[in-house]
Amino acid sequence: MTQNNNEVVIGIEGLSLKFGGLQALDTVDLEVREGEILAIIGPNGAGKTCILNCINGFYHPYRGKILYKGRDLTALKPHKIAALGLARTFQNIELYSGLSALDNLMAARHIHMRHGALLGCMFFGPTRGEEIAHRQQVEEIVDLLEMESIRKKVVGSLPYGQRKRVDLARALSMDPAVLLLDEPMAGMNVEEKEDMARFILDIYELKKIPIVLVEHDMDVVMDISHRVAVLDFGRKIAGGLPQEIKNDPQVIKAYLGEE
Ligand SMILES: Nc1ncnc2c1ncn2[C@@H]1O[C@H](COP(=O)(O)OP(=O)(O)OP(=O)(O)O)[C@@H](O)[C@H]1O
Ligand SMILES: [Mg+2]
Repeated sequence: MTQNNNEVVIGIEGLSLKFGGLQALDTVDLEVREGEILAIIGPNGAGKTCILNCINGFYHPYRGKILYKGRDLTALKPHKIAALGLARTFQNIELYSGLSALDNLMAARHIHMRHGALLGCMFFGPTRGEEIAHRQQVEEIVDLLEMESIRKKVVGSLPYGQRKRVDLARALSMDPAVLLLDEPMAGMNVEEKEDMARFILDIYELKKIPIVLVEHDMDVVMDISHRVAVLDFGRKIAGGLPQEIKNDPQVIKAYLGEE
């Protein structure tokens, strides 16, 4: 794809995934580079979530590979990949619905940090000082995503749009090096979508980490992404700048074909 010569953070080569006779991904090549928001778009069932599931180790391709900063992730387990700094949100929000928003963030942070600590053999249990540091970092995320009013609320009682926000906060609380977002605006009204787009841009500005954004809403994609990859029936049919993609006849066809 064009116009970004920054270092490749995630390199996907020939990624192919099957479920029985269904070719969910077919030799997909994709690069996520330093300093970009890369959108992945495509009709329902195109394979967008499958790509994220391969990146974070839920699915394993039968062919192709995924390199993260040159390291092959393809055979690693999800918790190992998370410990390397790849965090994601889920299309079907995955939170502890009986816990408060704050406790969900603390839980994510602890699970993640425990791996980090064990790998580094630095300490064996969080001390009080560390606990306070975790809490401070979680509170910063609460501020950033304007969650003050919901921080103590049980997640299961929150409206859908706010649960999506907690899910984003949960991913952020893992202090990610790359953020993978699976339809963070799905099912939201216009105002909620605008808020979510603003939060994603704020995260991008503050953390300077690459963000992979799977999204259906073309207006959102055009507004906030730097590059776009288009999938259709498991194949990458186009890639480039948002403006190029918008006018690509194959892309228009894939979307109109869906209607
Ligand atoms: N675990 C699974 N078992 C069987 N088939 C699957 C599984 N996961 C995905 N698929 C199939 O793989 C194809 C791609 O699915 P995927 O979820 O990646 O689509 P998507 O682009 O994310 O679509 P949507 O926009 O609806 O979320 C679909 O046909 C889907 O039914
Ligand atoms: Mg999906």
